[in-house]
Amino acid sequence: MKKTLLCLSALLAFSATANNFENTDDAIHYRESAFGLIAYQFGDMGAMLKGKKEFNAEIFAQRAANVAALSKLPAEGFIDGSDKGNTEALPKIWENKADFDSRMTEFQKNAAKLAEVAQGGDKDAIKAAFMNTGKSCKGCHDNYKKD
Ligand code: HEC
Repeated sequence: MKKTLLCLSALLAFSATANNFENTDDAIHYRESAFGLIAYQFGDMGAMLKGKKEFNAEIFAQRAANVAALSKLPAEGFIDGSDKGNTEALPKIWENKADFDSRMTEFQKNAAKLAEVAQGGDKDAIKAAFMNTGKSCKGCHDNYKKD
């Protein structure tokens, strides 16, 4: 009986802290997939702003909204131990987790701002907000991602 109780409390303790990943490879795959989706949206927005394709305010605003929503996803994938494996994430992330997390939050804020500004259709304001968001990507990659 005592043994069963012990097992049960171990199980409960586990489920309280567990994430949904099977293992670290799964977490790495999850965050890379999220970034891939973000990059697709962001690349198309960049092409529109650079004049490589026609600027369409409606599509741009939809893409900006997508980035704002997707920006909330990658953080969950940076679980302990996932510095090892097939990943471009540098171990530094887990040594400076507070800085990394604050960069992620900053990115989410900039992406939300971009989504808001994109609704307005003012192209100069949109460009500025896009650049700010791009700086969040680059700033974090320069510090925490292998080239
Ligand atoms: C707070 C840090 C941070 C921010 C902000 C960030 N990234 Fe990343 N990004 C990373 C890290 C770390 C990896 C490496 C993930 C891995 O390989 O496990 C990565 C990986 C990627 C990848 C490669 C995905 C793959 O398939 O391997 C792309 C593309 C990418 N990011 C694009 C972006 C874009 C575009 C933005 C901004 C709109 C952005 N990232 C913002 C940290 C960040």
